[in-house]
Amino acid sequence: MTTPAPILLAIESSCDDTSVAVLQGFRVLANVVHSQVLHERFGGVVPELASRAHVEALMPTVAAALQRANLGYADLQGIAVTQGPGLLGSLLVGHSFAKSLSVSLGIPFVNVHHMEAHMLAHFLLEPGVQDRPMPDFPYLCLTVSGGHTQLVVVRAWNVFDVLGETQDDAVGEAYDKAAKLLSLAYPGGPIIDRWAQQGQPRFDFAQPMMPGLQFSYSGLKTSILRRMQKEVQTNPHTLETDLPDWCASIQHALIAPLVDGLIQAFKQTGIRRIALAGGVSANSWLRSEVQRCADTLEWDLYLPPLSYTTDNAAMVGAAGYFAWQAQQFGALSDTAQAKFLIHG
Ligand code: KG4
Ligand code: ZN
Repeated sequence: MTTPAPILLAIESSCDDTSVAVLQGFRVLANVVHSQVLHERFGGVVPELASRAHVEALMPTVAAALQRANLGYADLQGIAVTQGPGLLGSLLVGHSFAKSLSVSLGIPFVNVHHMEAHMLAHFLLEPGVQDRPMPDFPYLCLTVSGGHTQLVVVRAWNVFDVLGETQDDAVGEAYDKAAKLLSLAYPGGPIIDRWAQQGQPRFDFAQPMMPGLQFSYSGLKTSILRRMQKEVQTNPHTLETDLPDWCASIQHALIAPLVDGLIQAFKQTGIRRIALAGGVSANSWLRSEVQRCADTLEWDLYLPPLSYTTDNAAMVGAAGYFAWQAQQFGALSDTAQAKFLIHG
């Protein structure tokens, strides 16, 4: 008789989302995300406010997740927690809480790398879903978020080869900065994505040439700004009246290098199992472009369910369950790490 998979509490607090999930193995029993809207008026995350908000939100979010899963503390067999990378103050809140809970309940905890968790979200089984195609190792993953833009070969749950990455800004950051230029709210990625669907990409921007599988987004941001300034001289209200076209143009310019990079990485490695991960993988244009490539290049494509693209604790639970199975438990001397290298 096989023993049932353990019930784990998963905690994510690396940036501005306080999230807690309850999982049995890879099956999500509850996934609660408390997003800190207080940063909106600052146009970006304020680290000091984020850590304070995690302190306030963590206990109610744990209670909500347990209630939704219809379980109590006594049912938990372990804890998975994000150790890094991220904002140190934010990470410390979740990580210290997880260690304390582990001591008080007498159950082990496992440390999770936030970006690895994004890439392992493909193994999650959402509530109500019996089965879902999951990638075999190795698979090629385009990881795109507010802090990362990477092409990674996921060789095993704990072996990641980074083939290429951004040399400056992350693509999500570029979305958020472009949104600010258009006076849109934070985070701007989903807002640009929505407006773009009603527009035409008719404004061109200079794309930086990058060697190999590297990306660069800071130059593109400057060229978007210059193009806007030029257009405003002849058409002062263009940013309001042509908003959908600006958004479509920005969307195309930001996504094109990602799709090109993915095709190049596929040709270089010959790996046909292709996955997207991270907040920007919710993007409608990226998803449709990658689907188009999958149809023509015969890729096996793995797109994460939308609720597991942006930061969430369920993905931390998926990575944590792999670590649990390998018995790689955390020690009380472990601490949160703002800079945290992916396992090579
Ligand atoms: O993974 P995530 O939630 O947090 C980080 O680890 O950074 O990613 C957040 C980023 C933000 O920059 C946000 O603007 C972007 O993901 N994002 C999107 C979309 N949804 C979220 N960018 C483009 N299109 C979207 N639909
Ligand atoms: Zn993230």
